[in-house]
Amino acid sequence: MIDINNMSDKTAIKEQYKNSDNLKLRKGLHEKYSVNKVGFQKWMFEQYPFRAKMKVLELGSGRGELWNYYFENEMLQGYEMDITVSDFSDGMVDYLQHTLQGKRISVRKIDILNIPFEGDMFDLIIANSMLYHVKDIDLALSEVKRVLKKDGLFYCATFGMNGTTRHLFKALDELGIPYNHEANVSFTLQNGMQLLKKHFGRVKRYDYEDALLIDKVEDYLEYIYSMASLKGLDWKYYDILLNYFHSQKVNGYLHIPKEYGMFVAGKE
Ligand SMILES: C[S@@+](CC[C@H](N)C(=O)[O-])C[C@H]1O[C@@H](n2cnc3c(N)ncnc32)[C@H](O)[C@@H]1O
Repeated sequence: MIDINNMSDKTAIKEQYKNSDNLKLRKGLHEKYSVNKVGFQKWMFEQYPFRAKMKVLELGSGRGELWNYYFENEMLQGYEMDITVSDFSDGMVDYLQHTLQGKRISVRKIDILNIPFEGDMFDLIIANSMLYHVKDIDLALSEVKRVLKKDGLFYCATFGMNGTTRHLFKALDELGIPYNHEANVSFTLQNGMQLLKKHFGRVKRYDYEDALLIDKVEDYLEYIYSMASLKGLDWKYYDILLNYFHSQKVNGYLHIPKEYGMFVAGKE
């Protein structure tokens, strides 16, 4: 049985991110087949309100790809900001330490549920595509709020339930493949505003328009099978899904809607 609630099972998440391979595979699919060529990471990065001497903390950094745009931008590097990237997975922290060695960005092992800093420390906190992995979302958000300065901003990106998720569930329904319908994803574009407003005085949502146009359906299946939320998807369904997605192609392409965006929250 496929279980989307597995998305915030800590052991499953740690297993999935014990090294960076799964994440690389999934990012690869989006890079190759996304219609919007700006790219979600670049779109987000360009909206961060960087300024000189700012103190910045990123939580759940994964492969730290956001910071490629920082290294491409000489003006930003001249700002002499104090930047810390972090993750709770040893594998990701090793990867970040290796790739950011000798660069002016600190790497720490941090669980968002217990941020090892004093209060009112950061001007900008970023937590992208990671809050939906956290079960105790109120504890996570209260930790972020605690270490954010009074006039600081919290940026968090996530997905919505009307994109790839709904498309996949429709396929599973039509094929009679069992999954847990009571999807209880802890942080999405649909419930994020309400959750953030419990902790932050100001919250805004920004959407990123995009879709996937896939010609090689095998790449999509590899993506599906790599997701923590679908742990339990039996390989016996591989050919059934393959044939189904082939049959859904129009003019040689499988069209999959995407729903991604971010929230920006301030304390007051
Ligand atoms: C989907 S990846 C996103 C990586 C990156 N933020 C991005 O947008 O590309 C989720 C990351 O969150 C990390 N993570 C999950 N739960 C966490 C927690 N409680 N505290 C810190 N990091 C966590 C995982 O180890 C993984 O690297």
